[in-house]
Amino acid sequence: MSTLQIHDLHVAVETADGQMEILRGVDLTVQSGKTHAIMGPNGSGKSTLAYAIAGHPKYTITGGQVLLDGEDLLEMSVDERARAGLFLAMQYPVEVPGVSVSNFLRSAVTAVRGEAPRLRDFAKELKGGMDALAIDSAFAQRNLNEGFSGGEKKRHEILQLELLKPKIAILDETDSGLDVDALRVVSEGINRFRTSGDTGVLLITHYTRILRYVKPDFVHVFAGGRIVEEGGPELAERLEAEGYARYAGDESTKAPA
Ligand SMILES: Nc1ncnc2c1ncn2[C@@H]1O[C@H](COP(=O)(O)OP(=O)(O)O)[C@@H](O)[C@H]1O
Ligand SMILES: [Mg+2]
Repeated sequence: MSTLQIHDLHVAVETADGQMEILRGVDLTVQSGKTHAIMGPNGSGKSTLAYAIAGHPKYTITGGQVLLDGEDLLEMSVDERARAGLFLAMQYPVEVPGVSVSNFLRSAVTAVRGEAPRLRDFAKELKGGMDALAIDSAFAQRNLNEGFSGGEKKRHEILQLELLKPKIAILDETDSGLDVDALRVVSEGINRFRTSGDTGVLLITHYTRILRYVKPDFVHVFAGGRIVEEGGPELAERLEAEGYARYAGDESTKAPA
């Protein structure tokens, strides 16, 4: 049982003109075994929340707290956060020529578990994960993220989840650029993963499409750098029907000055 607690989080981004406040007081608690969808219009700060929790250097915490099982996550290095059980899937993963998927995953597993798995054990584990996600075996030898299609990137994310078994997984825009088949495979991966273990999932998405396959326990609507509405799965259905227009006139949803 794990809990991620976000209290009154304020985050600014470094721009050419200095700091700009993006998140303006976010409160959110995610428990293992639960799936939370964060939805909202483009530019509302959803990715900023993910990057700030993950420790991206461009994002400065200007106020508030993030605790994982009571430990101050914001005091930890990026590696320590991963070891503490946090996983972030990036909207735009970086290409790393010369590093194979297999090498990358073994390093990641080693970092998180604190010791290198035996090569033979790891090969077996990797194959099992790839089979479950219908990933071709040649994929493991490809250069990390190089020329990956949208579907391959997403399958790779889910493969990382299976191997790393984080306490809290933050998946940013996991449904962007996916065709229906890939969306189904990825959704099944998330579903298998969240029902088998006790991982809390923070699923960040602009579209409601993936929520037809992955049913969230809670839905939070983001606008103007804070949560403006919360509810259950029915809120996602309403957003699918109505879009985000109703939040546009809200003073609190205006872009920060
Ligand atoms: N690295 C950055 N440099 C400048 N502006 C940024 C940066 N990251 C985010 N922003 C700005 O912060 C706001 C929120 O962005 P983001 O968190 O990416 O929103 P979302 O993921 O909801 O689309 C936007 O206005 C965006 O332009
Ligand atoms: Mg985003």
